[in-house]
Amino acid sequence: MTFTVVSPEQMIEAYPNAEPGSLAGKFVPQPPPPAAGELKQTMREIEGPFFRIGAPRRNVILEEGDKVELIVSGRVSNEKGVPIPHSVINVWMSDHDGNYDMIGYRHHGIVEADEFGHYEFWTIIPGAYEPREAKHIHVMVQGNSFPITTQLYIEGELRTEKDPFYSDDVLIRCTIDEKGVKHGTFDFVLKQVTPQDNVTPDSLAAVV
Ligand SMILES: [Fe+2]
Repeated sequence: MTFTVVSPEQMIEAYPNAEPGSLAGKFVPQPPPPAAGELKQTMREIEGPFFRIGAPRRNVILEEGDKVELIVSGRVSNEKGVPIPHSVINVWMSDHDGNYDMIGYRHHGIVEADEFGHYEFWTIIPGAYEPREAKHIHVMVQGNSFPITTQLYIEGELRTEKDPFYSDDVLIRCTIDEKGVKHGTFDFVLKQVTPQDNVTPDSLAAVV
């Protein structure tokens, strides 16, 4: 059996004339639009081939010689706006030259949100690598039930909006401080299976 990893890079090669943004979210199922009073769930994107299980838990995702270039913070909540305490965000990105570490965990980390669903991590701004136009950060976010995977973009980086996978929905909005460090915010919204969905009288009786 042949297993083919579908990556954004492969899809860009398959669609060489794709317009900016035209492939965003097209190759993975998307969440339904929000019902009245709900928050829009975070757009999903192709995972790509570079996720590695077992990254260290850390919110300073910097390697020796790195300087902090980007601080990202925000909140993880469900579609009702209820924070998901202790949700975990797997983060992986390339180095400045566009290379992913597939042996160790350089620029990989698992960031844990606090009891209010707030998270923050410090890192570099990764490089853009062929054929991608946009510097991007891969994330897999998990609360109580299934995870979602997407890619985040960094406001103000050159050529970001020209990438066929670019979407405003997953743009980290940034300010820059006096040292040139970008401070970005991004809130994740993911629907979770609730106890009402998932607990039967029999299963509840078995644990209480
Ligand atoms: Fe990537």
